[in-house]
Amino acid sequence: MISPRKTYIIANWKMNFTPGESSLYLQRLSNRIQPSRNVQVILAPSTVSLQPLSLQINRRQFKLAAQNFYWRDYGAFTGETSVSQIRGFVDYAIVGHSERRHIFNESEEDIAQKVAAALRNNITPILCIGETAMEREDGETAAAIYSQLANGLNEVSDRDIDRIIIAYEPVWAISTNKNACPAGITDIEEAQALIRKHISKLYGKEASETIPVLYGGSVNSDTAGGYLSIKGIDGLLVGSASLIADSFCAIVETAKGIKNE
Ligand code: PGA
Repeated sequence: MISPRKTYIIANWKMNFTPGESSLYLQRLSNRIQPSRNVQVILAPSTVSLQPLSLQINRRQFKLAAQNFYWRDYGAFTGETSVSQIRGFVDYAIVGHSERRHIFNESEEDIAQKVAAALRNNITPILCIGETAMEREDGETAAAIYSQLANGLNEVSDRDIDRIIIAYEPVWAISTNKNACPAGITDIEEAQALIRKHISKLYGKEASETIPVLYGGSVNSDTAGGYLSIKGIDGLLVGSASLIADSFCAIVETAKGIKNE
């Protein structure tokens, strides 16, 4: 079960760093980021770096997340890595990231199966949802959020909802710096309220109050504090700023500051 009072800061390194570079970067981060009870720092390197980093990492300091995996446990699926093959290395897995949805055409059904496969393997899924620029312009944000949430959680029972993390990442804000404006803050507060409302409908009030909802999309060390202060936002999914030690450490420090550590 997930602790509702925790703040989650997730570094999504995307397709960057060789295993050697990942290892050196982890070393730099571990010299600067102290373990914390209230702020959980999660690193999501490329699949190829998961095994070596899992041997190097201090799990009191950092946890590892997969960026992607295939939902079947084994079989004739050339080029894929199953969640059961990486289960010893990671505690979390990102599922349904917009780059997977839009560049690799992952379907809602694939995403639901991945959420289920992660849970089956005792890995916490971080389910990413968010509207595109076009959906937003067409006033379809609420509908997009609802359908991605309902479809993504299709295989999740009442018993397992407290093992899920939701990341709200509006597609128009990822890698664009477009969200660094005050208007964006209201949108994010509304979106997290919508997410909790839908969770309440699907799983009840308690689940809606305790499920962690993170924000992601062009977060950097200047904007992190603002996003973390938004009501109902329990953490951040950070892409490009997580590749620079100074920026990422500053974001973690900001989170700790907000938690009064
Ligand atoms: P970004 O990426 O911070 O570079 O916008 C966020 C994400 O894709 O998770």
